[in-house]
Amino acid sequence: MKIGVIGCGNMGLEHIGNLAANKHCGPENVFVFDLNAEAMTTARDRFGVRSANSLDDILQDAEIEAVVVACSNRFHAEMAIRALDGGKHVMLEKPMALNENDARRVAAAAAVSDKVLHVGFELRNSLFPLKVKTMREELGELVSAQVVEYRGHFWPEWKGMTSDGGSMYLMETCHLIDLFRWWTESEVAEVHAIGSVKNIVPHYQFPDTQFTSLIFQNGFVGHISLCHVRSAMPDQFSYSDPASHEDLLKEEFGHQYEYSLVGTKGSLRYLPLKGLLYLYRHEVQPDGSLWQRLDASQDTGEFPDHKSAIHNVAVEIDEFLEAVVGNRAESLDPEDALKTHLVCFAAEKALRSRRPVVMGAASGLHPALQPSPAKNREILSTVGDC
Ligand SMILES: NC(=O)c1ccc[n+]([C@@H]2O[C@H](COP(=O)([O-])OP(=O)(O)OC[C@H]3O[C@@H](n4cnc5c(N)ncnc54)[C@H](O)[C@@H]3O)[C@@H](O)[C@H]2O)c1
Repeated sequence: MKIGVIGCGNMGLEHIGNLAANKHCGPENVFVFDLNAEAMTTARDRFGVRSANSLDDILQDAEIEAVVVACSNRFHAEMAIRALDGGKHVMLEKPMALNENDARRVAAAAAVSDKVLHVGFELRNSLFPLKVKTMREELGELVSAQVVEYRGHFWPEWKGMTSDGGSMYLMETCHLIDLFRWWTESEVAEVHAIGSVKNIVPHYQFPDTQFTSLIFQNGFVGHISLCHVRSAMPDQFSYSDPASHEDLLKEEFGHQYEYSLVGTKGSLRYLPLKGLLYLYRHEVQPDGSLWQRLDASQDTGEFPDHKSAIHNVAVEIDEFLEAVVGNRAESLDPEDALKTHLVCFAAEKALRSRRPVVMGAASGLHPALQPSPAKNREILSTVGDC
């Protein structure tokens, strides 16, 4: 299958390498385009792929069946719509667009097309999230989750600019919001968000530290702490191959993170870079107290490295191509991806306005979340008394 890749930067090169190695494709069938000629040369030299002279060379070539869009965010919507309208399958890096209207236009273009549109939420293809999905027996129903991430700042510069990157939500938090939606199979009802008032990263046009809390229709609560000052969380590297962490260790890319999940039957703590996963089972004692026992049988030996655990883009590309050739259904419906984006836009609004945002279709709320005027009055009067 001939396939075009637009953007040969950090992410584009990962996709190009995976396409060149994929049985449906191979290097001779990958055509790359980048506004930066040097980036194209790197892709060609590293993977033996071919370069195109222009975007139109790719979009107007009838033999090119599919396109991967991996350039700056501000071009995503128009490129995806053009490719879909032109009869091509599209693997679109997140975000779908920089604003709600354009994200809806992308989803609409996919809906009227008979082609695959895949949006790049690769956590859904990654081993740790997939494992959690199958841990209903151990965890029960998910009640809460927290992801804490300290990482190096975005580079190149465009990622920190609202005109090009959009927001921290579109650049990064979207992955975790999508993950919480996918894990819980519930929708966000309410978003609370605050960001740092003073930035340490000088070129960002949005707060470099953002705390976001989400209340879901089924009562699940999720919290995402993101801070782009990496040194504030101690190093966690311990996978055996240090070379595979070369990028992660660079100050501008380095990630440190922890996942904490609480379910009705058990709890889980995961340190991706250490390859450590702790599962605790909850046991209510006859006297009513709650004991939490470490389940020693859990290890992450099944995750060969950090990438396959939470950044499994090789499998993502493979599943996209399998959907294109008709061997499987596309796993992520564009309407589903759109819903994650709508939460991102709401969260950005909450962050900027410093007010919680209630999501549109708030029907079917968990009883504890139903508005109760009497209770509200009670709370308000208590606050007033203070
Ligand atoms: N899924 C993930 O985990 C993940 C991780 C990183 C980045 N991304 C996404 O991947 C995309 C690329 O990010 P990156 O880190 O590779 O950025 P990057 O800056 O390293 O690369 C972007 C490349 O696109 C090129 N480019 C920009 N505008 C173009 C245009 N109009 N036509 C052709 N080429 C153009 C640039 O010259 C650059 O080489 C972004 O949308 C980002 O959100 C996803």
